Amino acid sequence: MAPTTPAAVIVMAAGKGTRMRSATPKVLHRIGGRSLLDHAVTAARGLDPERLVVVVRHERDAVVAHLEQVAPDAIPADQDEIPGTGRAVACGLAALPEDAGGAVVVTSGDVPLLDTPTLSALVAQHHERGDAVTLLTAVVDDPHGYGRVVREPDGTVSAIVEQRDATEAQRAITEINAGVYAFDLAHLRSALAALGTDNDQGEVYLTDVVAHAHAAGRSTSALVVADHWLVEGCNDRAQLAVLGAELNSRILARAMESGVGVVDPSSTWVDVTVEIGPDASLEPGVLLRGATRIGPGARIGAYAILADVDIPAGAVVAPFAQYDAETPVPAQGSGTTGA
Ligand code: UD1
Ligand code: CA
Repeated sequence: MAPTTPAAVIVMAAGKGTRMRSATPKVLHRIGGRSLLDHAVTAARGLDPERLVVVVRHERDAVVAHLEQVAPDAIPADQDEIPGTGRAVACGLAALPEDAGGAVVVTSGDVPLLDTPTLSALVAQHHERGDAVTLLTAVVDDPHGYGRVVREPDGTVSAIVEQRDATEAQRAITEINAGVYAFDLAHLRSALAALGTDNDQGEVYLTDVVAHAHAAGRSTSALVVADHWLVEGCNDRAQLAVLGAELNSRILARAMESGVGVVDPSSTWVDVTVEIGPDASLEPGVLLRGATRIGPGARIGAYAILADVDIPAGAVVAPFAQYDAETPVPAQGSGTTGA
């Protein structure tokens, strides 16, 4: 076990996601072909934690059924009726053995572009400094809605203040809390036991652990990420669309770096799970979904929609063609040219 392997990652996914105005739980909404929760769990799993815990409550059965499909290694932990991110983590901790120690990483099920290298850097800083709490932050143009990072004159992180509880001066702070943390497990347990619900929402705020650690004379620090997209949260459908577009443009940029031709990136949509060989080319409007694989040099015509299919090297798919597992691609020579 590497010295930086966390005892657990706890992914918070119990919230209602009221601002989505949807019958589907927020964390099951999808971008890039994966649920928000699947994105979060995939990044977490990259840390190789001893335990991967997902806290559930709202639409619990739907979320657990989804987890069984995409992350059978994850342990669901039920949050009780007490609301708030602090309570969510307390319920997640109940899924760990009592003698567990070391670091616990906490992430949110609604921060889909967060990646494993960023989490690893957070855990490394946490260990190097011996912090009680190390949190991920970013400086953004519009901090509205996020918790603000309050620092002492010497730069020490002393508290997180939520938008709705913040003073006018605190609202002007542009460094935001990403909702992603590395905690010393022993400190986290004692802090959560001491936290109250004295805030505008009457919830147990996980963010209050920061002020608690600071008041106890324990060290706290922030890892400020330069790429704000990595920590962008999804609370409503407008943010879901923006995050989906950003993820897509990153997928296409990576494909183009590896030699894939993309005529019009703004109208081409490719899931994270798709593989595309070098010198393949995508005409405008192409949608590539699921486990689709495009062989080297294949040419995909405009507005073709391909889901879970293999396109052989050098094949030509006609404009507007639609193929999926039920409608497979015809053999080469007999009409790969489609519709
Ligand atoms: C939270 C942070 C805020 C931060 C932001 C980053 C707190 C109090 N605030 O605010 O400082 O800037 O995230 O995106 O933590 N959840 C549960 N159980 C609950 C409540 C929430 O599991 O009782 C889960 C949600 O499903 C979600 C995550 O925790 O995945 C964050 O909850 P959310 O209500 O979106 O918090 P924010 O208001 O965004
Ligand atoms: Ca959120």
